[in-house]
Amino acid sequence: MKTYRRIIITLAALLLASHFSADLYAAEKKSVDPRKIMALYKRHCALCHGKDGKGMTKGGQKAGAKDYSDPKVAAKLKDQKKVIKSILDGMKDEKGKMLMAPFKRKLKPQEALGLIKFMQTFSKPKKK
Ligand code: HEC
Repeated sequence: MKTYRRIIITLAALLLASHFSADLYAAEKKSVDPRKIMALYKRHCALCHGKDGKGMTKGGQKAGAKDYSDPKVAAKLKDQKKVIKSILDGMKDEKGKMLMAPFKRKLKPQEALGLIKFMQTFSKPKKK
């Protein structure tokens, strides 16, 4: 019977698909490869926040990026939930001027978290 066969095939495909997305989900829960995070930072963030997190770039100066090598500034990165939201949904100042565009379409929450952890390294004391 043809319909019967079609149903079996559909079911098999569905099973396979759900299994596959479960794997993807598991992968997302794992932390992201640090090299990938660095590449993402270079591609999306360094333009404003600078390679060293100091925000001393043209874009960063114009947008008003703060110095994340300063532990006082970097302290706010500890509020991961809020900061992830800022990265994914974007950030505006009190007057509604855009500070940072939303990255929702470009980054997964897990990647945003990795980027925050990466930005925290800017304020870690290096050898003096
Ligand atoms: C157009 C310039 C620009 C780009 C590109 C940009 N930012 Fe920002 N970002 C800002 C400005 C301006 C602020 C507000 C002042 C500050 O905290 O530096 C900000 C704030 C932040 C904050 C603090 C959020 C909060 O809640 O206080 C984090 C964390 C951050 N950016 C991370 C990133 C990451 C990660 C990327 C790359 C995915 C990125 N930014 C890309 C300009 C930018």
